[in-house]
Amino acid sequence: MPLPSRALDPAPPDPILGLAEAFRADPRESKVNLAVGVFVDETGRTPVLPSVLTAERRVLEAGASRTYLPIEGRPGYRDAVRTLLFAPGHEAVTSGRAATAQTPGGTGALRVAADFLLQTGGPRTVWLSQPTWPNHQQLFRLAGMAVRTYPYLDATGRRLDADAMLGELRDAAPGDVVVLHGSCHNPTGVDPDVSTWHEIAEVAAERSLLPIVDFAYQGFGDGIADDAASIGVLAGAGLEFLVCSSFSKNFALYAERVGALTIVAQDAARADAALTHVRIAIRSNYSNPPAHGAQIVETILCDPALRADWEVEVAGMRSRIRGNRGAFVDALGAAGLPGEWEPLRGQRGMFALLGLGAERVERLRREFGVYMVGAGRVNVAGLTQENLPRVVESLAAVLAS
Ligand SMILES: Cc1ncc(COP(=O)(O)O)c(C=O)c1O
Repeated sequence: MPLPSRALDPAPPDPILGLAEAFRADPRESKVNLAVGVFVDETGRTPVLPSVLTAERRVLEAGASRTYLPIEGRPGYRDAVRTLLFAPGHEAVTSGRAATAQTPGGTGALRVAADFLLQTGGPRTVWLSQPTWPNHQQLFRLAGMAVRTYPYLDATGRRLDADAMLGELRDAAPGDVVVLHGSCHNPTGVDPDVSTWHEIAEVAAERSLLPIVDFAYQGFGDGIADDAASIGVLAGAGLEFLVCSSFSKNFALYAERVGALTIVAQDAARADAALTHVRIAIRSNYSNPPAHGAQIVETILCDPALRADWEVEVAGMRSRIRGNRGAFVDALGAAGLPGEWEPLRGQRGMFALLGLGAERVERLRREFGVYMVGAGRVNVAGLTQENLPRVVESLAAVLAS
């Protein structure tokens, strides 16, 4: 039996990682990568965090066996993840109603969440913000869910339209899943404030929706604990929900694939029962998670001094991102570029949507070697003092046409 004929018709490149390949292949020295969602420092490098290096040394010196991990991952890691999601002594942790499984990255957590829900006869419809991280669409669709979208931004494309978002979610059917970005919404940089999170929780309770909180940028917005306010609100509202954590960005452990799926249920018995099904989703998918990155994260989070160092390092990344936002808005304003740029200054996380349209984005890449995603998602961390003037000049050129 030959390969299916569709398998011989090449698939399009990934909208984000495909651009990374195109960037690597671009011979121009002046090229600027604002496309991929990876933190870079002023020299354009993705640093290895000093706390990670220290933890890694300890892990290697300990020389632990490389036998398989439990299906749901390292117990110490699973406990440590919950200390990031919830304030110390939070009842969701002390009661045992939050149960965590280690996963390969945030993507692994999302896929395990989808498989877990489908395999337990759960919801078949998932609601995603429009726009969202492009991988959400295909991940949930290929897992077997029907994908619907809810509006997110107002007509300016710069602010949340909470009424439109909540209005659409009020039409969702009981049992539907709604994916929410815990902080630092990708690609818009626009987050609900705490009072809007309360309204979201109310609608989710009213309509019996099951939130999945995609939490890939904890610490890149206002701080490690502040960014988890969304989780606290949902837990406080008595909802059952899932959290998909990624430690790719905040520990700069991208290639190590470190993440977690946390189930927050009404009580410990429900959380424990649900975790037994999560184990099946994992076992049938990749059997058990990789050890190395999770050992590093666990070592950092369980050592108060190392954890304090890591928090300072995250604050450093956050402050670079914020500084870059300000510098970008100042430079756009100084160059007199048409458009409303000021809201970008106060947005959170690495991304901003410039709203340029696909044609201008294509021109930026082709003529100027400035790479962005879709209709103009930029990673502001990719801006440096050196490339900023060139980026602004290129934008001026394409906006003038
Ligand atoms: C919103 C969002 N969710 C999930 C992920 C996946 O993270 P990971 O690389 O840990 O799989 C990303 C990464 O870019 C993301 O932006």
